[in-house]
Amino acid sequence: MTRLRTAILISGRGSNMDALIAASKDPSFPADIALVLSNRPDAPGLAKAKAAGVATAAVDHKIYAGREEFERSLQIALETYRIEFICLAGFMRLFTPWFIKQWRGRMLNIHPALLPAYRGLDTHERALADGVKIHGATVHFVVPEMDEGPIVAQVAVPVLDDDTPETLAARVLAQEHVVYPMALRLVASGALRIEGNRVLGALAPHETALIVPDAAAAPRRIS
Ligand code: GAR
Repeated sequence: MTRLRTAILISGRGSNMDALIAASKDPSFPADIALVLSNRPDAPGLAKAKAAGVATAAVDHKIYAGREEFERSLQIALETYRIEFICLAGFMRLFTPWFIKQWRGRMLNIHPALLPAYRGLDTHERALADGVKIHGATVHFVVPEMDEGPIVAQVAVPVLDDDTPETLAARVLAQEHVVYPMALRLVASGALRIEGNRVLGALAPHETALIVPDAAAAPRRIS
């Protein structure tokens, strides 16, 4: 089996990166994490990736005159490592249309909300302020519009009465670590196709729609 040479782009702690690397250690996983790249040389995730035996690189956005110059350097690093696919995992820079065009249909992002609700930042604070009862995370293909693009998979968790932004974030994050490897496995295996704004072709609902019925439980299959 040829595995899809995948880069994970991070800006910080890299817990989703950890989950993707762990999943890729299974030889049957269809993606190989060939590079972890950060725009912040001090991102804690870089050391964790190195410790896991994954190649790392940093392209510091601060030393470039503009976004496109920064992205051209990113692109060179990605080409050097013969990267075929990108997973954004807490990568906190917006891309220009130029970069997104290079990777259209070949770049996933994870967002800590049930898109299209709560695009942007502070998703957990905003969900609590709105009093929603269900919150979650979304894995989607990246398009030029921020936090838009065809949705591959989502996971829903309950919001509890005594939640703070931190407890809710932690509950969502634990499930991000489940849903992201699941989504990458499906995409990298070639099982899915994009039609307009929809991603189709999963064999069963539980492959793309996870519902965590209570705060402590693992995702329940809804097939
Ligand atoms: C995750 O919760 C991810 O969903 C979020 O940043 C966190 C990164 O954590 N991403 C975004 O907000 C992107 N808009 P991690 O570095 O531990 O994976």
